[in-house]
Amino acid sequence: MTFPVLQDKVIIVTGGAQGMGEATARLAANAGAKVVLADFNEAGGQAVVDSITADGGQATFVKTDVSNPASVENMVKQTVDAYGRLDGAVNNAALKPDVDPLSDLDDEYFDRLIGVDLKGVALCLKYELRQLIAQGDGGSIVNISSTNGFRPQYNQGVYTAAKHGVVGLTKNAALENGPHNIRVNSVAPGAIETPMLVESIQDNNLKPEDVAPRLSVLNRFGKPEEVAEGSVWLLSDNSSYVTGTVLHVDGGYTGR
Ligand SMILES: NC(=O)c1ccc[n+]([C@@H]2O[C@H](COP(=O)([O-])OP(=O)(O)OC[C@H]3O[C@@H](n4cnc5c(N)ncnc54)[C@H](O)[C@@H]3O)[C@@H](O)[C@H]2O)c1
Repeated sequence: MTFPVLQDKVIIVTGGAQGMGEATARLAANAGAKVVLADFNEAGGQAVVDSITADGGQATFVKTDVSNPASVENMVKQTVDAYGRLDGAVNNAALKPDVDPLSDLDDEYFDRLIGVDLKGVALCLKYELRQLIAQGDGGSIVNISSTNGFRPQYNQGVYTAAKHGVVGLTKNAALENGPHNIRVNSVAPGAIETPMLVESIQDNNLKPEDVAPRLSVLNRFGKPEEVAEGSVWLLSDNSSYVTGTVLHVDGGYTGR
């Protein structure tokens, strides 16, 4: 059992059916949280929930499309129905990066990616903040950005724009909600070994062994669990004076 830094806190994790969201849901449950795992992948999400509960943790699955306002509102409502309140969230769900230069921009693709990776975070913030403000006793929200929130990567212009936007939303949400003692921060992962990274490397005809040294001074990809550690710390009261900032979990890539 991890140190119970989230004991009895009710935490939503979006995009929890695989990858970093799954690792974050597992670590949060291990740290004592009641986890609501929200994803549009019902089978995958339910399997993670079943595994968490089999290990003695508390978790519930709510099928959610973060790009749909009614679905996000329902996610928060189901959370409160299941556990009585909300204490925090990790807004992690996203679509993988684009593969074309901006000179070939497909405007329908732009709308789809921005709809999930940027508007999805904004919608989650909206309904989570409303619930936290109504409760009146604070909270902590983590939005997952990326190294792309700070630096471009070739042929990933739309994803780069979305992830810059996530940092902007985070700063504004922190500013507006500080008086409610609601902290809002971002985690910016580097190249982390998840299905998204594997697909992205394949999409760009690259080899993992060539990419890892370019994307980390530690000369390796990160693990989903290493990112989850950062999110759980930001959710916990151990980070009580931290808001409006970005935690880079990127093997030193951005600081290089
Ligand atoms: N993997 C990396 O190297 C990397 C690097 C930097 C940032 N990130 C970011 O970290 C987060 C997690 O990435 P990952 O690699 O674990 O991704 P992943 O593709 O492995 O998992 C993403 C999850 O989000 C869900 N999802 C997608 N669209 C959704 C929607 N509209 N509604 C609800 N759920 C939806 C998927 O079903 C999936 O379970 C994302 O925000 C991603 O942009 C990833």
